[in-house]
Amino acid sequence: MAESTTPTEAPCRVVSTCRQIRAQVAQLRSAGRTIGLVPTMGALHDGHLSLVAASNAECDATIVSIFVNPAQFDRHEDLQQYPRSLADDVASLQSYNVDVVFAPPETELYPGGFSTYVDPPAVAEPLEGRCRPGHFRGVTTVVLKLMNLIPADVAFFGQKDYQQAIVMRRMVEDLNLPVRISVCTTIREPDGLAISSRNAYLKGRQRQQACVLSRGLELADELVGAGERDAATLVARMRQLFADAEITRIDYIAMVHPETLEDIREINGPTLAAVAAYVGKARLIDNRLLGLATT
Ligand code: PAF
Repeated sequence: MAESTTPTEAPCRVVSTCRQIRAQVAQLRSAGRTIGLVPTMGALHDGHLSLVAASNAECDATIVSIFVNPAQFDRHEDLQQYPRSLADDVASLQSYNVDVVFAPPETELYPGGFSTYVDPPAVAEPLEGRCRPGHFRGVTTVVLKLMNLIPADVAFFGQKDYQQAIVMRRMVEDLNLPVRISVCTTIREPDGLAISSRNAYLKGRQRQQACVLSRGLELADELVGAGERDAATLVARMRQLFADAEITRIDYIAMVHPETLEDIREINGPTLAAVAAYVGKARLIDNRLLGLATT
């Protein structure tokens, strides 16, 4: 196992073709090294780097994939505007123990004639699935492709994209993939805002408004701590907080079971509070396991 999670100055190799990444994986495997995969769409931030650190801690070698996956964008405009910064991303990974960066062009993963997709599990249907039709079909398809190209021991995902992590766990289980899914804590700004590539879209006072997502989740947690059990009341109190901050475009505020993601009416057991809302043109998501310390 790797000995340290502290950044080092080992250079990482950047490859862009399926043939090259397979060769890199074969080399690492023949050296007997365990592999951690950190799938990303680039625009790397501290949240991604915490996944890299987790991989470094658990695996001998870490591979980061950087690919803005067109199949998971429901809106063309969003895909066009998604931040791309490969050179900066690679630079930020240089000081970490990353062995290989896999940054393929679109034609490498979706060559002409590509037409096979993964039908996502039922847990992909509510929340993000309802608001972003086709999103999880794109995610499951690209992650399965990445896992086939990079048969890792462990794949790392962030809790900020909670539903994505649950979808991944289900897919791995259902399709008997020999990889473990590790879900890492959400990394937050000092004021609570969950770190996300989409925070770059926040302008001026929107940055302040955006804190209301995590504050709303905190409020729900406090109310549960004070004995509130009615999910509708929690949602209403969060909606009021959002309205006070002039956040009116809300995709969902939901209290759901943390594994099935089914709606919960009374908080009598494990509950995930999840929210998706627009602040300006940034669609932000966040979540919190109620009754637990920090998430
Ligand atoms: O979380 C992301 O950045 C993406 O959904 C992922 C897992 C890299 C698949 O494109």
